[in-house]
Amino acid sequence: MSKNKLAEERINYLDYNSINGGFDELSKRIVDDLENVGYVVVQNFDVDVTNVEASGQLFLKISEMVGTPIPHAGNDTIIWDIKSNPKSDSLIKTYSEHSHEAQMHTDSQYSFYPEDYFGLLTLKKAECGGGISYLVSLKDLLDELRLLPNGEQIIDTLSNTDYPFIVPNVFKKSKVEGPEFNYGPILRDNEIRFRIDTFEKALNYKQGICDETQIDAYKKLKHIVLSTDKIKNFYLNENDLIFINNKTMLHGRGQFTDQSRHLLRIRINK
Ligand SMILES: [Fe+2]
Repeated sequence: MSKNKLAEERINYLDYNSINGGFDELSKRIVDDLENVGYVVVQNFDVDVTNVEASGQLFLKISEMVGTPIPHAGNDTIIWDIKSNPKSDSLIKTYSEHSHEAQMHTDSQYSFYPEDYFGLLTLKKAECGGGISYLVSLKDLLDELRLLPNGEQIIDTLSNTDYPFIVPNVFKKSKVEGPEFNYGPILRDNEIRFRIDTFEKALNYKQGICDETQIDAYKKLKHIVLSTDKIKNFYLNENDLIFINNKTMLHGRGQFTDQSRHLLRIRINK
């Protein structure tokens, strides 16, 4: 059996057609899995994916039963289109604007309170064979960190010292030139905030923004994130509705070239 096959069998799928109790049962199953597994891929969600407006409304309805949908930072939009946006001139692009690989990260890691969960509904998958999804749990990362000789010390540094998180231009609060930072630990109680590219941009922007112990702890975590064999990988298909716990899971996405790929995203707090 190939490694990919094995990985695919570990995915937490839920067939919408197996749900008899409608959205009541579905939302309970989703919340249960978000808390206990960290994510769930609901397959065959019953929407007409060619009707973006109607699909979005049903996605919103189930999201309202999972928690409280929240607007995306910087505007009042609850249902967010994820489409490649090559025209965006922002220096620090958000992952929803580009089509190259998005390394393992949490969403809104720079924000004062990142969303607890988010959902993605696939309306149009990438037909180019790209756009693979990746997931890994905080628990698996912590288990690997603890196997290191100074694992507990690394976890302590990641939990109890402040790191700089750079705020993407589109979400910046002030109009002042130059990057804006939010500071905080990478690990909190049952929570991780993580993104490699923007974090390393922050490190390079200001010398001494983190001390050696912090940088070493970050590098150990980064190495595990990039090398762990616990990463689950799978493709999202049309009518797949995935919900992810943004505090206990990292997610990523492979590069794609099909610019017609189209997902909807809703951010949700408990
Ligand atoms: Fe993301």
